[in-house]
Amino acid sequence: MSSIIEDIIARKIFNNRGEETIEVDVITTNGFGRSSAPAGKSRGKTEVTYYPQGGVEQAVKKVDDLIAPELAGLNSDFQEEIDSTLHEIDGTNNFKLIGGNTAFAISLANAEAAANSHGLLLFQFLGGNNANTLPYPLGNCISGGEHARGKAPDIQEFLALPHGAETFLEAQTANTQIHSKIAETLKKKDKLFNGGKSSEGAWLANIDNETAFETIAKACEEVGNEMDFECGFGIDLAASSIWKEKEEKYDYASEGKKRDADEQLEYLLDLIEKYHLTYVEDPFQEEDFENTAELTKKARNCLICGDDLFTTNNERLSQGVKIGAANAIIIKVNQIGTLTDAAETIDTAQRNSYTCVVSHRSGDTCDWHIAHLAVAYKCPLIKTGVAEGARIAKLNELIRVEHFLGNRARMADLKVI
Ligand code: PGA
Ligand code: ZN
Repeated sequence: MSSIIEDIIARKIFNNRGEETIEVDVITTNGFGRSSAPAGKSRGKTEVTYYPQGGVEQAVKKVDDLIAPELAGLNSDFQEEIDSTLHEIDGTNNFKLIGGNTAFAISLANAEAAANSHGLLLFQFLGGNNANTLPYPLGNCISGGEHARGKAPDIQEFLALPHGAETFLEAQTANTQIHSKIAETLKKKDKLFNGGKSSEGAWLANIDNETAFETIAKACEEVGNEMDFECGFGIDLAASSIWKEKEEKYDYASEGKKRDADEQLEYLLDLIEKYHLTYVEDPFQEEDFENTAELTKKARNCLICGDDLFTTNNERLSQGVKIGAANAIIIKVNQIGTLTDAAETIDTAQRNSYTCVVSHRSGDTCDWHIAHLAVAYKCPLIKTGVAEGARIAKLNELIRVEHFLGNRARMADLKVI
């Protein structure tokens, strides 16, 4: 068979923050795949462990000594078998022994090697002939929270969503224009603005939450008018990072205000109405399924998305589904470890009409695989920045996929909005 694994090679490389990460090559008789793992900064508590004790070096050693000999000779076509072998070798429930990022890199490199062995692109191999829908790009334009330092908004991300675009290229064009318009406004509103950007390429400015809202709202409206389609926007609160457990309050330090869960609910409903927000991620701390459900019930025409809430974990999603917590889910494969685990979660989400948002991490490499996952699994949204090397690698890959599909390409069906 042409897709039999002959060798697996691992090495240490670096992500866009200069942090060490793992890269893996999977070599089959007739194919090749390569993937490297990203890293989050505002991580969910229930994510799998990234690396074994000893970090990336130990992870590479585990691949050389333990994993490569075990996987050699298996057929890369059988992704589930590869991924369950990774679980067996690890033997823990959170990839503590080999590392979730090790599993991630092997799993994705294997999928690419299998596709390549058959002369197919990854999205074609995983998604089949019907995989022809492009996701809308959610583009982070202003950073705050744990992605910023000093005086900055408490809200982690202000994200453009050009949901009226007819093609992916148009949508990404709108996002780049919104992003650069925002810089022009920030120059005027923040005397100290020096063009600095966060890991995700979103602007860093000495502004409060309200200024950030006004700035992105104006940019989206102007670009929407110029391009003649609707450009909305949303936020990622990453609320666990502003949650003060002892006081049971959300700490909005830049406003000098604290809000309990009820006040947080009212605040968010007001914001959704005032700015017509189309997307709100992690509105409450990650164990608060109940208030997330309450917001989902009350918010109109808005995607309420769980990131740290679900951590791409099928069981946590199922818990959310039971009470109607959120109507969208972030899919970060390295939160759970393998492609098979993530695909199971996507399946549960889709069966329960949750919108899937395939996502980068703030620390990322030029790995482009998530672009193909969004198309293969028909995910209507991809969250991967606007303008920064590791983001552009994924966004440009989607432009290539759209070009490749030609007149078969469609934009995904984005519900709720
Ligand atoms: P990350 O955060 O730093 O964990 O990648 C991004 C997010 O919260 O969506
Ligand atoms: Zn998030």
